Amino acid sequence: YDKYRGIQQEHIMNFNIEKSKEKVYDIIDVEDLAEKTNFCRCWRSKRWPYCDGSHNLHNQLTGDNVASIIMERKPR
Ligand code: FES
Repeated sequence: YDKYRGIQQEHIMNFNIEKSKEKVYDIIDVEDLAEKTNFCRCWRSKRWPYCDGSHNLHNQLTGDNVASIIMERKPR
């Protein structure tokens, strides 16, 4: 781990979300999800843990290519 410490500090992913917590995690009841739900994977959303499209600006500014994870319910 130590050999990566400096690299990791330069590449913090989470700048703003729940920084007072030791770890950011979310518990979501699948029964509460809409038919299609977009979850943020870029850590830039202002609607965390849901995607608000902020990944588009992040990608423009950094050249990155991240986006949400989309969860869909199977039709019943
Ligand atoms: Fe983070 Fe869309 S805002 S993945």
